[in-house]
Amino acid sequence: MYAIFKLAAAALVALPLVSAATVAPGQGQAPKCSLSQANLAADLPANLTALLPPSNASLSQVTIGFGTQNYTCTNGSYVNVGAVAQLFDISCIQELPAISSALSQAINELEQVDGESLLNFLTTLAKMGRFQLANHYFDTSIGTLSPVFNFQVSGGDYVIGKKLEDIPDPFNPAVNVDWLLLTAAAGDAAKYVVREQTAGGQPPASCSVENETLQAPYAAKYWFFA
Ligand SMILES: *[C@@H]1O[C@H](CO)[C@@H](O)[C@H](O)[C@H]1NC(C)=O
Ligand SMILES: *[C@@H]1O[C@H](CO)[C@@H](O)[C@H](O)[C@H]1NC(C)=O
Ligand SMILES: *[C@@H]1O[C@H](CO)[C@@H](O)[C@H](O)[C@H]1NC(C)=O
Ligand SMILES: *[C@@H]1O[C@H](CO)[C@@H](O)[C@H](O)[C@H]1NC(C)=O
Ligand SMILES: *[C@@H]1O[C@H](CO)[C@@H](O)[C@H](O)[C@H]1NC(C)=O
Repeated sequence: MYAIFKLAAAALVALPLVSAATVAPGQGQAPKCSLSQANLAADLPANLTALLPPSNASLSQVTIGFGTQNYTCTNGSYVNVGAVAQLFDISCIQELPAISSALSQAINELEQVDGESLLNFLTTLAKMGRFQLANHYFDTSIGTLSPVFNFQVSGGDYVIGKKLEDIPDPFNPAVNVDWLLLTAAAGDAAKYVVREQTAGGQPPASCSVENETLQAPYAAKYWFFA
């Protein structure tokens, strides 16, 4: 079931520990492989170029994130109350077709999976500590509940994002969370963050138990630009 991720994990584990590039202080550990061929525009359907950051922004990290989107049942609908995820360096495998444009198809299997298998899988990934670049969570340190990308785990700083664009997933928006372009509202780990190639994370359309919480597993590609 997780063939694609087993392949990815094997590729990651087999890699040498040398870094192919340097990054500015704050951006976390340098990508393990060169990002010169990495191209966000090539990942995006032609009509989603609104998700591209300004052309003078420079790509600093390409990652895959695994975690949960959290919801609370409010008045019959699940309202998003944040997310928790771990982000991993995929610079060495991002050119594989299954990791680039076909990623969301490949990882759409995730939504079929029960929570325990997903947790086991995440634990395995987390053990590949040297590939973890950042922790993703939400906090209210800038006044409103906002997404934080904290690169402390790989020696960097943090960035708190503010939405510039929010576009429904072009493949299966009822199942996969939206694709986003964020700009930095605080922190210097990045100037822009793009979330795309999402898999899972959406809640059921309605709920009946007020204040009931829900964690919906999801995965996505996150791109960081300086
Ligand atoms: C992009 O094109 C697809 C296919 O034609 C369409 O379903 C989708 O709504 C479009 N998205 C935007 C943001 O224009
Ligand atoms: C990119 O250009 C904009 C204006 O065109 C400027 O405000 C910004 O500082 C530039 N960013 C970088 C990273 O050079
Ligand atoms: C819930 O919905 C009802 C009816 O639409 C509305 O009167 C009420 O203010 C809503 N409550 C909250 C907490 O949104
Ligand atoms: C989201 O759910 C996870 C798993 O239950 C939990 O650890 C985390 O604290 C929750 N975060 C938010 C922002 O609700
Ligand atoms: C739901 O949570 C809110 C805020 O904590 C609280 O005011 C309300 O009484 C709760 N409603 C129910 C039905 O538990």
